[in-house]
Amino acid sequence: MNFKKLKTTIEFTRNLFTTGAISETSREVEVEICSKLPKEDHKIIVEYGMGHGNITREILKNISPTSKVYAFEVNERFCQHVQEEIQDGRLVIINDSAEHVRELVKENAVDAFIASIPFTFLSNEVGQKIIQDSYDMLAADGYYSQVLYTRFNYKKFVRIFDECSITKIPNIPTEYIYHCKKQKN
Ligand SMILES: C[S@@+](CC[C@H](N)C(=O)[O-])C[C@H]1O[C@@H](n2cnc3c(N)ncnc32)[C@H](O)[C@@H]1O
Repeated sequence: MNFKKLKTTIEFTRNLFTTGAISETSREVEVEICSKLPKEDHKIIVEYGMGHGNITREILKNISPTSKVYAFEVNERFCQHVQEEIQDGRLVIINDSAEHVRELVKENAVDAFIASIPFTFLSNEVGQKIIQDSYDMLAADGYYSQVLYTRFNYKKFVRIFDECSITKIPNIPTEYIYHCKKQKN
């Protein structure tokens, strides 16, 4: 493990009840979770749970130069870390909870959501609000893609989204990516 990854693991472990993980998601997750991102110009992407920015980097690599990413992260130190590490004019870091997305992202619609927030550590009410608000803000044909370590929360997404699928990444621990689509407004 290199020094950067070790630093991230120490920080994640120290904040276990908000990170819900002891290390960053895998390279396979970074690639798979970004597989539904729109590549066209002027797209709006929202990320929930930026952490130290591994998925954020992959999002920026996949979208057009005129698109924009709003990245939510509750941990102020993680926000400072990414602010120092990623210099990209398309990235807007929001040091707040995903549950406030409606108030904080003032765009007509969001073209894709990429999320790694730990639903197991969110109250049922907060989790439901995040899923419903994201669905309401999502443009037609847009995807909400979420990585989690269990299939347990899948039904919460199936209840709201029009089309859902799960991709299993057989690592230790196993990672699951839920791709959830909105058909039309
Ligand atoms: C499992 S870590 C994932 C970090 C990184 N994106 C990755 O893939 O490794 C979850 C992150 O979500 C953040 N988080 C937890 N609850 C949140 C919330 N309600 N809103 C925004 N971020 C949240 C945690 O602080 C943590 O950085």
